[in-house]
Amino acid sequence: MWRPPGARKHGLPQATWPTAEEAAGSALFAPIRVGPMVLAQRTWVPAMVPWRASEDGEVTDHVVDWYRRLAQGRPGALVVEATGIRDVPSGPLLRIGADRFLPGLRRLVAAVREASGGRTRLLIQLIDFLAIRRRPLPEKFFYRFFAVDEGHRERLAEALDEPAWLQAPEAAVRARLAIADPDLVGRVLQVRELRDLNYGYRETVSDTHLPHIAELPQVLPPLFAAAAVRARAAGFDGVELHYAHAYTMAGFLSRLNQRGDGYGGSPQARQRLPLEVYRAVRGAVGRDFVVGCRFLGDEVVDAGSRIDDATCHGVAFAQAGMDFLSVSKGGKFEDARQPKVGQAAYPYTGRSGYECMPTVYSDPTGPFGRNVHLSAAVRRAVRANGCDTPVVAAGGIHLFRQAESILGAGHADIVALARQALADPDWFEKVRTGHGAEVRRCHYTNYCEALDQQHREVTCQLWDKPDPDDPSPRSRDGRRRLIPPPWRPEVADRQPVADPNPASDADPPRE
Ligand SMILES: Cc1cc2nc3c(=O)[nH]c(=O)nc-3n(C[C@H](O)[C@H](O)[C@H](O)COP(=O)(O)O)c2cc1C
Ligand code: SF4
Repeated sequence: MWRPPGARKHGLPQATWPTAEEAAGSALFAPIRVGPMVLAQRTWVPAMVPWRASEDGEVTDHVVDWYRRLAQGRPGALVVEATGIRDVPSGPLLRIGADRFLPGLRRLVAAVREASGGRTRLLIQLIDFLAIRRRPLPEKFFYRFFAVDEGHRERLAEALDEPAWLQAPEAAVRARLAIADPDLVGRVLQVRELRDLNYGYRETVSDTHLPHIAELPQVLPPLFAAAAVRARAAGFDGVELHYAHAYTMAGFLSRLNQRGDGYGGSPQARQRLPLEVYRAVRGAVGRDFVVGCRFLGDEVVDAGSRIDDATCHGVAFAQAGMDFLSVSKGGKFEDARQPKVGQAAYPYTGRSGYECMPTVYSDPTGPFGRNVHLSAAVRRAVRANGCDTPVVAAGGIHLFRQAESILGAGHADIVALARQALADPDWFEKVRTGHGAEVRRCHYTNYCEALDQQHREVTCQLWDKPDPDDPSPRSRDGRRRLIPPPWRPEVADRQPVADPNPASDADPPRE
C-alpha cells in the first residue's frame, strides 16, 4: 500500500463522547432534508463493496445479512455498494441491469427497513465501468494482442542497427519482441502498448476509435435511467450516480478526458454526459425519488482534475437539480501500482488510492478529516451560486466532536463514515444514546481494503476472529466471521425519536 514519503504512524485522537442529551441537541443528530426525503440524522454510510454478491451479480443471503447489520446501527442514510447498470457478466459485483435482479434487491431493502425500524434511508450506488484486463505474460501479449506495424519494424531496425527488420515478417517481429529485454521493448513500443504490456489492457473514455467507447454518450443515459427505475421498483429511496474514482463517468469529468466529440476538453464539455445521464434518470424516476451523485474533489493524479474542476462540476450538478453531492477523492488507475502478471491493476494502490482511503501511516496532515477541505470548497461554490444542495464529506471521519465541527463550520451538511461503520456499525446508535465510550474505533490501517483489493469478503480485523463454537456465518475460507457481533444497550435507550419519514416506513416497493 502506498504511503506518503516520510510517513509516520498517527495515533487515534482522544475521543470525548456526548451524553444522550448532548447528542439530542447536536447538529449531527438533527434531521436534514435531502431532496424529497428527510434523514433523521446527518450521518451517512457511503458505498462500500463487501464482495458478497453471487458470481451472477445477484443479492445473496450474505449481502442481505451485511446490510441488515449495517442498518441496525440506524445511520441517517446507507448507500448500497457500487452496483453495475449493465446486464453483462462482471464477477461478484452486485448488478441492477435487468429485472431479474429485483427480487434480491427487494429483499435487501426489506431487511434494511426492518433492521433500522424504518429510520435509515436507503440509496444504491449505480456504476458503469470500462474494460480492464489482467497483466499478460510478455509472450501472450506479443503473440495474441500486439498489432505489428511499420513503426515497430523501423524502431526495431534502428534499435538493433539491423536494417533487415524493415522487411521482417510479422511473426519474426513478434518472436523477437517476446524475448527482448525491457530496454529494447521500451524503444520499440508506443506508450499505450507499453502500458498494456506492463499493466494490462485498459480502456479509457478517450478511446473513441473503439465504437463502443465512441457511443457511450448514446448508450449510458438510458442504461442509468433503467437502473434507477429498477432501484425505485425495488423500494430504494434513491440512487447515487457513481461519478467518482476510476470508473466511466469519472473518466468523462476528468481533465484527462481528451474526447473530440463535444464530450471532452472544457469543463462544460466534460460535464455534458454526466448531466445528460442525470436528466435521463430524473426524467425516468420523477422528482419524488432521490437522485444525487458521488464525484471527486481532486483526482490526485498528474494532469488530472483538481478542486477548481470539482467546484465547477458541483455547481453544474446542483443547478441541474441533483438532490445531494457526495465528495470523494482519488482512487484512480493512472497511478496504480503495477500488478503482478496474471492480476489486474487496482485503482487504490497508488497515491490517489491512498488519498481516497487514507491510513494512519500518513504525512503531518494525518488521515482524519483529510478531505474535508474538498467538500467545503464544493459547498461554498454551490451556496455562492444560490443552491442549497446538501454536500456529503468523507475521509477519516470517526468522532462526534470532529463531525460536529465539520457541520458547524459549514464544511459539509452530512458526514459519511465508511471504515468506522465497518469497524462498528452501531457507532450511530451508541453515540446517539450516550454510549460513545463503547464504540469499537477503526484503526485506519486498511486490512479491510486489502481484502477488497483481492475481491475477498470484506471484514474488519477488530471483529472477524471467530470463537471455535461461534455459529455465525464465515468467509469462504472458513477463517473469518462475516458479520460484526451484536450490541445490545438497555432497551429504554433504544426508543427512537420521532421518525421524519413516518409514511415511508410501511411503503410497499414502488413500481
Ligand atoms: C472495502 C471498501 C469498499 C469501498 N467501496 C466503495 C464503493 O463501492 N463506492 C464508493 O464510492 N466508494 C467505495 N469505498 C470508499 C468509501 O466509500 C470511502 O469514501 C472511503 O473509505 C473513505 O471514507 P472513510 O475514511 O470513512 O473510510 C470503499 C471503501 C472501502 C474501505
Ligand atoms: S479493518 Fe482496520 S481499517 Fe478496516 S474498518 Fe477495521 S479497523 Fe478500520
